[in-house]
Amino acid sequence: MSQLQVHVKDLQQWKANEDFARQIEEFKALPALYRHALNELQNKIDIIRTEWQVRDGFSPIEHVKSRIKEPKSIIQKMERKGYDLCLENMENYIHDIAGMRIVCAFVKDIYRLVDHLSRREDMRVLEIKDYIAHPKPNGYQSLHVIVAIPLILLEGTRWVKAEIQLRTLAMDFWASMEHILYYKFDKQLPAHVADELKEAARAADELDQKMLRLRREILELTEGDNS
Ligand code: GTP
Ligand code: MG
Repeated sequence: MSQLQVHVKDLQQWKANEDFARQIEEFKALPALYRHALNELQNKIDIIRTEWQVRDGFSPIEHVKSRIKEPKSIIQKMERKGYDLCLENMENYIHDIAGMRIVCAFVKDIYRLVDHLSRREDMRVLEIKDYIAHPKPNGYQSLHVIVAIPLILLEGTRWVKAEIQLRTLAMDFWASMEHILYYKFDKQLPAHVADELKEAARAADELDQKMLRLRREILELTEGDNS
């Protein structure tokens, strides 16, 4: 082996190490990036809440929760979906590393809020999954929206993805209960349990519809008072 070949090999090794080191650095910086994206999103939602409060006297957003997905869950999800474990796949295919749940009082407000979000210039709505109009077979209802939030960094603008789950209080109650009941039960649910859960989801939906009807009626009465 000539002297030159040894050097080339060393150089390649060093380059490979450098790429690896860069990937590690980038990986370490990612949680902070997603955290910043969530903070930006949180701030936008806070402003909407305040505006609604000032304009209408109440905000239809009941509460908001955010979380960053644990590395272990990210890896599990990538394996489950059959993606090779690399940063590129993680950024391209795992949309819920930054996650926000917005719980609203009424179904109508969820659609009003999403309509508003999709018109904003400071974010992009990439995908909407409407499990309210089309509940999952087990009865699960929510509206899932994948958005991209621009972060102005030294290197330029970077669009970071986040998943927003929008639900009513009734949907949130059902999903939380289902999660508690189903958690750690990795087998198929007995048919009658699955049926009763679905029935409970229908009851939650009926409750939402009833509340909407009541709101409409109360609004009509209030308008009647003012005239
Ligand atoms: P996952 O995120 O791995 O589920 O894959 P996905 O992105 O293809 O699924 P989807 O967007 O439908 O659901 C994403 C998230 O919605 C989950 O991580 C849960 O937080 C919530 N979710 C979806 N289905 C259910 C359900 O049946 N029950 C409950 N409690 N939550 C659900
Ligand atoms: Mg998802």
